Amino acid sequence: MRIIGTGSAVPEKIITNEDLCGWLDTSDEWIQTRTGIKERHLAAEGENAVTLAVEAGRKALENAGIEPRKIGLVLAATCSSGNYFPGVGCCVQGQLGLANAAAMDLNAACSGFLFALHTAYTYIMAGLYEYILVIGTDTFSRMVDWKDRSTCVLFGDGAGACVVKRAEEGLLAMSQHSDGSRGDVLVCAGAMLQSPTTEEKTMKPLLMDGQAVFCFAVKTIPECIDKLLKDEKIAPKEIKYFILHQANRRILQSVAKRLKVSEERFPMNLDRMGNTSAASIPILLDEMNREGRLKRGDKVVLAGFGAGLTWGASLLVW
Ligand code: ACO
Repeated sequence: MRIIGTGSAVPEKIITNEDLCGWLDTSDEWIQTRTGIKERHLAAEGENAVTLAVEAGRKALENAGIEPRKIGLVLAATCSSGNYFPGVGCCVQGQLGLANAAAMDLNAACSGFLFALHTAYTYIMAGLYEYILVIGTDTFSRMVDWKDRSTCVLFGDGAGACVVKRAEEGLLAMSQHSDGSRGDVLVCAGAMLQSPTTEEKTMKPLLMDGQAVFCFAVKTIPECIDKLLKDEKIAPKEIKYFILHQANRRILQSVAKRLKVSEERFPMNLDRMGNTSAASIPILLDEMNREGRLKRGDKVVLAGFGAGLTWGASLLVW
């Protein structure tokens, strides 16, 4: 299975670290030193996980140069769309006129795009579809408490998409994992309406034990990538780029160090985007694809980690 087209969309509105200082007791220096983030895009009125997904999907289809009717399945990874139903995938299917596509959503938080890509792979390998549109879209601006400086500074909104096609080359290996027993380190409880038996009415904002998430990521991701490469008998030096979930620069630097790989091979856009959850890997892939940084034949590792806990990696040839 090969990626044959990419697209992405972010809201126009940019909020800088300086802007956040307008209502939070924080500083540009604190945020940049601890995270590497300088600014993020935040959805305005009328923009949401669906509108961004539709735009990213449209661009991915154009970039792939295929007709919409060829898409057999839309897989949308999201955990912040705000709708229980219809799913984001169905909204994209309808708005892009993908008349022959089935559609569904998948929630693996920040690992969502990677898990959706792997799901697309298994469908394609089973012979069910030839072309699949895989999307990661999240708007965490609607889930964080904007008075909680320990979380709200970290996130941005956006969507990224890839068109994948059945092919002999492309994705070589994948690995994905979950540990629900540690899920309480990163939680966002859903909204509830009052029922005859409950009082609960309001959605609770995202809650995170930052240090626990940090420790989980810097230990688990290098181990996961190392095993994936060893199993495929490929040395880290053969990998052109390690395209990781853009949570935090210090996490990516630590993973690079543990894998003994130079930091330059870990592309980053989190300084401009913040952590866009399921969208972070496909937004970065799209930027690199459009800048011509990904050449046919390059070996690339993708790796994601997030709430659940969930994590995983893929090895692919561009
Ligand atoms: N500005 C200023 N001070 C702050 C801020 C802020 N925005 N946020 C917290 N602080 C303060 C705290 O109150 C604390 O003050 P105190 O010592 O007086 O109590 C101090 O800074 C240190 O707080 P820590 O939480 O210990 O800071 P830490 O060095 O751990 O950095 C951070 C926090 C950046 C969140 C770090 O733990 C981290 O990067 N964790 C990973 C988080 C992450 O990437 N999550 C998402 C991944 S999964 C997904 O994508 C959904």
